Parts: sequence; C-alpha cells; structure tokens
Amino acid sequence: MIITVMGATGQTGHVICTRLLHAGATVRALGRSEEKLAPLAALGAEPWVGAPDDAAFLARPFAGADAAYLLLPYGLDVDDYLARQREQSEAMVEAIRASRLPRAVALSSVGAELASGNGPIRSLHSHEARLRGIEGLDLLILRAGAFFENFVPALGVIREHGMVADAMAPDVDLPMIASRDIAEAAAQALLATDWHGQRVRELLGQRDLSYAEATRIIGARIGQPELPYVQMPQEEMAGILAGAGFSASLAALYVELAQAISDGRIRSLEGRDASNSTPTAFEAFADELAALYRSA
Ligand SMILES: NC(=O)c1ccc[n+]([C@@H]2O[C@H](COP(=O)([O-])OP(=O)(O)OC[C@H]3O[C@@H](n4cnc5c(N)ncnc54)[C@H](OP(=O)(O)O)[C@@H]3O)[C@@H](O)[C@H]2O)c1
Repeated sequence: MIITVMGATGQTGHVICTRLLHAGATVRALGRSEEKLAPLAALGAEPWVGAPDDAAFLARPFAGADAAYLLLPYGLDVDDYLARQREQSEAMVEAIRASRLPRAVALSSVGAELASGNGPIRSLHSHEARLRGIEGLDLLILRAGAFFENFVPALGVIREHGMVADAMAPDVDLPMIASRDIAEAAAQALLATDWHGQRVRELLGQRDLSYAEATRIIGARIGQPELPYVQMPQEEMAGILAGAGFSASLAALYVELAQAISDGRIRSLEGRDASNSTPTAFEAFADELAALYRSA
C-alpha cells in the first residue's frame, strides 16, 4: 500500500509516517527540505521535497498512491493568513483532481462547521468544502480539538512571568487532544480499506478542559501549585502575539478564536462518546511539559 503524508516532519505527520512504516506501508513523506526529511528517510520513508502550495509538485506523490494524509500548513508570519491558506487549499485540490487520488484523510478542527467568527479555523471551513467538492474522492475529515502542544510556548511565559496568559476565558471547557492521538486515528484510517464516501469524525481528546484547569495541572507538575491563569484583554494579547512573530492578520484571527472559545462556540457537534474520545490524558502530557520545563 502506498500512502502519501503531507506535513511529514510536523507534529501529526511524523507520527503518522512512523506508524505507517511499522505497518509495512510504502510512505511518501512530503516536506520542504531534504535535511528535515532525513530522519524519516532513515526509517524507510521516501522523501519528496517540494512546497505544499505547488500543485504540480503535489500531484506527483499523490499519483499512484492508495491514500494521502492532507493538512494545511501555516506560517505565523504570513501577511494575509486567510488568502495564503486559500491558495494552499486550492493547490491541494487541483493536485488531487489531476492525480486522481482515490482516498484521503484530512486534518481539520472542531469549530470548522462555522463559516465565520472562528478565527484561523475559518480557512478549514472553506478547505473542507473544497475537498468535499472533489467527485469520486473517498474522504475522511478529522475535526480535532485544540492540541495539547499549544501549551509548549506557555513554558517561556511561566518562566519569565510566573503565569499562563492567554485570551480565552478561564473556565470554559474545550476539547483538547494530544497530537499523537490524532496521528494514531489518522494512521488507522489511512491503512483501513473498508470505508468509502465522505464523512466527518471528531477527535475530542480524553476529556474537555478549561485553560484554568490545564494551568492547575501544569502548575502542580512544575512545583508551582498556585500558578495562575491570567485572561489577557484582546488588544493586549494581539500585541503580545505580534511581538512573538505573528502577523497582524493572524494575531487578529487568534483573538477572534479566543472569543469564540470563551463564548462556547468551539465545541463538539456530535457529543462526546467512546468513538470520538482518545486515550492520552492532559496529565500525561503535562509530565512531558514539566520535563521540558526542568531541562530548559
Ligand atoms: N494547533 C491546534 O490546536 C489545531 C487544532 C485543530 C487543527 N489544527 C490543524 O492542524 C494542522 C497542523 O498540523 P500539525 O501540527 O501536524 O502540523 P505542523 O507540525 O504545524 O506543520 C507541519 C509541517 O508543515 C510545514 N510548514 C511549517 N510552516 C510552513 C509554512 N509556513 N509553509 C509551508 N509549510 C510549512 C513543516 O514542514 P517542512 O518544514 O518539512 O516543510 C511542518 O513540519 C493545521 O492545518 C491546523 O489548522 C491545529
């Protein structure tokens, strides 16, 4: 079985490649640099070097593949975030059509059912619609919760300012998930040949968590049980993000997303059950965060 993996050097893609190689698949690992793909090549993946917005490039590793893992990569510093995402999405769709790729598992997000007011997730709403428009493509859209890994940058803020700071309201529960659990679900779906048509599946993590609860769990593990979560005003948060390298357009979308989370609009449509819950608890991830915190 030949499976093409976009974003192969990234959080979900790397784990998917490893899992598929273990299962005996031929893996076409896509990335922009041979050097970053080298560890996967050493494990037996085929490195395919090219840009994810180059339709002519993408069509080659899609051609002849049994399935592909699709994701829309993003840069923090892109001037017009939504326009750039649209270009990448259109290139992907053009390549899928040209190559006649038969089956795809596409990463999306909870909140992607909303056409607006959901910040950067808006681009995933349009992307899903474009993918659904490809006739004959068996398509599984994975709508994942917020990645646990979003808390990694918080370690620097904890060290410098003794708090976790963000724009979301402290006590609103949100589906949060380890990226490795998304990878496991995606790999299983890529290897399975018994599904057809188009479907959406939510991946909600082990349980919903609020920013305040996540902060308490992290604090307990780094020896700061009183670690506070501080909700920043939107203007101030946008300024902090700009200082951290976000473009103005992405910073504005981020605070829009924070507002949507605070309003409870980024949530499961299906309701949580065994089929959309995943095993890794935030506590286990926080142990890894604590190790990172101590080692830095
Ligand atoms: N973070 C969340 O909470 C969340 C929640 C739900 C869904 N999502 C979705 O998850 C997807 C990201 O998945 P991921 O975390 O597995 O990916 P990732 O690790 O962020 O990135 C995947 C790969 O994309 C490439 N890349 C990075 N910046 C790029 C740029 N500016 N232009 C082109 N390529 C670039 C890099 O590979 P090379 O350098 O090797 O090319 C990177 O390894 C996005 O579509 C996002 O919307 C995120």
